[in-house]
Amino acid sequence: MTKLVLASKNPKKLVEMNDILSHLGVEVCSEAEAGVDVEVEETGTTFEENSLLKARAVMEASGMPAIADDSGLCVDALGGAPGVYSARYGGPELDDAGRYRLLLENLRGQMTRTAKFVSVITCCFPNGDVICARGECPGTIAYAPQGEGGFGYDPVFFVPGLKKTFAQLSPEEKNAISHRGKALEQFKVKLEEYLEKN
Ligand code: IMP
Repeated sequence: MTKLVLASKNPKKLVEMNDILSHLGVEVCSEAEAGVDVEVEETGTTFEENSLLKARAVMEASGMPAIADDSGLCVDALGGAPGVYSARYGGPELDDAGRYRLLLENLRGQMTRTAKFVSVITCCFPNGDVICARGECPGTIAYAPQGEGGFGYDPVFFVPGLKKTFAQLSPEEKNAISHRGKALEQFKVKLEEYLEKN
């Protein structure tokens, strides 16, 4: 049984990772279970850099293989913003609704509404090996929020093929097309190959 530590304090991410990876004989545990509590400053300018910073810090603190994900929303008309700053867009006083309202405000009158969600998952092993996987989900930014589900920017992220926002999809529907679902699927394949060879 391979055990990975998840570099995150988010219990939802832990459940999601275990759901997808458990049948590979991989168990993902929390930082608390591994006896570490790591605060990582996300100083990178790319999703790859930030997920590597998080995974490497937790691997070094715990001495165990560690996995991290970094994600965000990139809006074409804003030159890719908020991007790696998605969780901090508009400053610390804003909540999820405040952040997507600010995004709508910054896109007011803008006809080019294309955007994508990006997720990068990185796993660092104590021997220096690194596995990295990236998933993207294209969409557009709606003119007004719709739907109650999900989190973050979900109410304003519209999927043209389904004519719904992420917040109007069930978790299963969202996982099937989302950036994180795609990154995890690719990660699963790469991890399986790695475990077979090692
Ligand atoms: P992270 O936890 O550092 O990766 O921050 C990701 C940020 O990007 C979150 O706080 C959300 O604002 C946004 N985000 C990432 N994935 C999603 C998603 O699936 N739906 C809505 N917002 C998301």
